[in-house]
Amino acid sequence: MICGNTKPRIPSITGRQRYFDRRPAWAYDLKIIQRGSQGRDQAKANRQAIRSARVFSIYDHARHAVGLSETRRAKLERHRRCVSKAVDAIRSLTPQQCSDVAFLEHEFIPSLGLNDEESHEQPTELSRYFGAGLHLWQYPSQLAPYLVWLSGNAGAVKCYMEIGCRWGGTFILTVEWLRKNGAELNAVVAVDPIDQSPLIDEYFKLLQSEAGSAGHAVATLYVHALSTSVDVLNVIKRLQPDFVFIDGDHSLKGAITDHMLVRDYARIIVHHDIVSQSCRDTMQLWSILKELERHDFKFCEFTEQYKSVHGSYLGIGVMQKLSAPVQWNKNERSADVTEGAIFADNG
Ligand SMILES: C[S@@+](CC[C@H](N)C(=O)[O-])C[C@H]1O[C@@H](n2cnc3c(N)ncnc32)[C@H](O)[C@@H]1O
Repeated sequence: MICGNTKPRIPSITGRQRYFDRRPAWAYDLKIIQRGSQGRDQAKANRQAIRSARVFSIYDHARHAVGLSETRRAKLERHRRCVSKAVDAIRSLTPQQCSDVAFLEHEFIPSLGLNDEESHEQPTELSRYFGAGLHLWQYPSQLAPYLVWLSGNAGAVKCYMEIGCRWGGTFILTVEWLRKNGAELNAVVAVDPIDQSPLIDEYFKLLQSEAGSAGHAVATLYVHALSTSVDVLNVIKRLQPDFVFIDGDHSLKGAITDHMLVRDYARIIVHHDIVSQSCRDTMQLWSILKELERHDFKFCEFTEQYKSVHGSYLGIGVMQKLSAPVQWNKNERSADVTEGAIFADNG
């Protein structure tokens, strides 16, 4: 199901086949993906992971797709007003504050509110921020330098997509951060099989209310579906997101599928949980991608941990394309990224 002010055209189903025909050579050879350069033991572990990917996928989905219970919805409803407060706070930052990692990490990001799930992965010194505001599922120690990196790379971004947006905290912050740092966004897309959270709903209403006023109008889209659905494929083909944050299905098979869905369009691809001991598959995928995609992308990692947490968690991995994105020929290209085309279908 697709909600929002943009109604994607339905491309022919053969588009999916055409897409897979354009995979890079390495993606044809699952054995290479499984083997990597890590030796036979690792290769065996990789093969087992891929074989049982379906089980992990169901587990992961069950773990997070419990989703929006009535209690959770009621709680998030009470946080609606935090959205405009957070947006105002982001828009009020000075350029100096936007590049001050310590300020962002210790003051600003926690003040926006952090998520309260998987609490054993969270630093207790930040506990007063759990379950508040935007419910960001991030470590401020990783997010702060990532945001500073993003401020220098946001300018040209036209379409941001987050696969696995959950309550929407990272999504809202990222979109506002991009706009603050010079991006003239045409469209923003949040994807998740759980119901759209009140925070995202509130944020989309805010953006839509601003569309007529001075600011640059942004098409907003919530795709209430798995990333493997035809709805998501259609949206990707149509909007061709140039910046994608992948944080959905954490199985090897799921995460690599998401990567392959967007790799030809996106100039920036971010993978989450690249050092998380509770997400071995995404960790493994990151090391595989660093090898197999090294000719097409440069890599950057934000993985700072907290001493108070036992173990290693989360981790933000950035891939930045080295060359211009692949251009599709006109007949194949169902998407048009110009603002006029995106708004042409508004229903
Ligand atoms: C770790 S949470 C995302 C957190 C969010 N990115 C943030 O930073 O606040 C993972 C989300 O991915 C969603 N998910 C799981 N499988 C998915 C899939 N195949 N496509 C899209 N979303 C998926 C889950 O419902 C869950 O809400």
